[in-house]
Amino acid sequence: MFVKNLFLSTLAVASLAAAQSSKACQEDKNTVNSQADLDKIASCQTLEGDLVIGEDMPTLEFPQIQVIKGNFIADNAVNLASINMPNIREISGEYRLQGCRSLSNLQTPTLTKVGQITWITLPALMSFTAKIGEASTVRISDTQLTSLEGLDIKTVKRFDVDNNQYLKTVTMNLKNVSEALSMGFNAKTIAISFPELIWSNNMTLIGAGSIGLPKLQHVNGSMNFGNTSVTSIACKNLTAIEQTLAFIGNEKVTELDFPKLEEIGGGFKIHNNSKLETIDGFPKLKQVRGAIDFVGNFKNATLPSLEDVQGGFNLQTTEELDCSEFDAYESDKIIKGDDYTCKPKESNPTTADGTPGADGGSDDSDSSDDKGAAGRVGISALLGLSVAAIAYVF
Ligand SMILES: *[C@@H]1O[C@H](CO)[C@@H](O)[C@H](O)[C@H]1NC(C)=O
Ligand SMILES: *[C@@H]1O[C@H](CO)[C@@H](O)[C@H](O)[C@H]1NC(C)=O
Ligand SMILES: *[C@@H]1O[C@H](CO)[C@@H](O)[C@H](O)[C@H]1NC(C)=O
Ligand SMILES: *[C@@H]1O[C@H](CO)[C@@H](O)[C@H](O)[C@H]1NC(C)=O
Ligand SMILES: *[C@@H]1O[C@H](CO)[C@@H](O)[C@H](O)[C@H]1NC(C)=O
Ligand SMILES: *[C@@H]1O[C@H](CO)[C@@H](O)[C@H](O)[C@H]1NC(C)=O
Repeated sequence: MFVKNLFLSTLAVASLAAAQSSKACQEDKNTVNSQADLDKIASCQTLEGDLVIGEDMPTLEFPQIQVIKGNFIADNAVNLASINMPNIREISGEYRLQGCRSLSNLQTPTLTKVGQITWITLPALMSFTAKIGEASTVRISDTQLTSLEGLDIKTVKRFDVDNNQYLKTVTMNLKNVSEALSMGFNAKTIAISFPELIWSNNMTLIGAGSIGLPKLQHVNGSMNFGNTSVTSIACKNLTAIEQTLAFIGNEKVTELDFPKLEEIGGGFKIHNNSKLETIDGFPKLKQVRGAIDFVGNFKNATLPSLEDVQGGFNLQTTEELDCSEFDAYESDKIIKGDDYTCKPKESNPTTADGTPGADGGSDDSDSSDDKGAAGRVGISALLGLSVAAIAYVF
């Protein structure tokens, strides 16, 4: 009799607990501030709603969880040092880790699918484990990550990776980017490689030690290369850029190689690339819808296939240079804008809008590797460049 009752009541307690936890698994939002909060959902394999980690939580051990259908949010969880979700496969919403200053251990080894990745200001995070093959946006800023191994995504809307000063290599089999690909202010010598990239909208690459885009065929927006330390910038399979193309402040570049490029839908800028002596890497370029603005220390420039420039033309260099090719383009009305300037041996060459566009050249002494450590630079600086580069003159 007694035994039977005990048995029943144990069963009742167990099923009550199961009912409670399954109810907790269905909540729109579960906020976890303590181990007791976590215990309420510890048996859930799927959470239907959001999981929000509070400021006081020091470690998150969540072995049961496999799918979070909402968002996983840790905003300013300043005490959170470790996240271990060994069986998680999917976070359907946003995976946001922001301002988690202590987070150094991030283990999600079976995570393959994420809605949006937003990892911002994680100054203790040097590595993570994951196998993420799907995410619609990636934003990784201000971390100590040295690589993005653990992400292998084929298509994204946005890929924004900036201010990660230890990030030395990014190699990813991205095939296309429908809104923007922006990388800047990472390790100064970062090797950037997208061997499978076929097309991308707005591309901005600020600072890099090497850039590989061997299959890129089409840029649906603008393309900017700024302040890199690469010696050669090559896009051997690129045929069209729908908006502006700009190369600004690439202090070591000696070669630009765009053998198939035929069309630039905006302006075309080459400024402040002090080692660039010859501009001859655009043998097929026919059409530029904006203005051409070449300023620097170069000795030769040629665009042998040019048929139509809708904007103006400004070329200024400190060196001697033969202007006859461009003079002919202007008199033949291939260059249609009102402003035409071709000025060799100019001691203070300026861009079309009057900014100095040659930084004097040979003094490399100040280009030490800690330049990138000057502090956090907003992604808006990146965007500022593309906005400035797009304002072309008719
Ligand atoms: C970008 O251009 C490629 C090639 O022309 C095209 O297939 C793709 O749909 C375009 N993407 C966007 C977002 O416009
Ligand atoms: C690409 O950049 C241009 C200029 O900054 C902007 O006007 C445009 O909206 C951007 N396109 C996308 C898809 O973000
Ligand atoms: C270059 O682009 C063409 C299409 O324009 C494509 O057929 C070819 O495979 C590409 N080559 C490389 C090396 O990606
Ligand atoms: C590139 O470097 C120059 C000189 O250090 C600086 O004035 C400029 O703002 C930098 N551009 C970007 C986009 O960081
Ligand atoms: C480059 O310019 C210099 C001086 O103007 C000239 O002597 C030389 O032949 C040019 N080189 C090429 C490859 O056009
Ligand atoms: C060229 O570099 C100089 C010195 O670093 C800088 O003052 C100037 O603004 C730069 N010009 C352009 C067009 O980036």
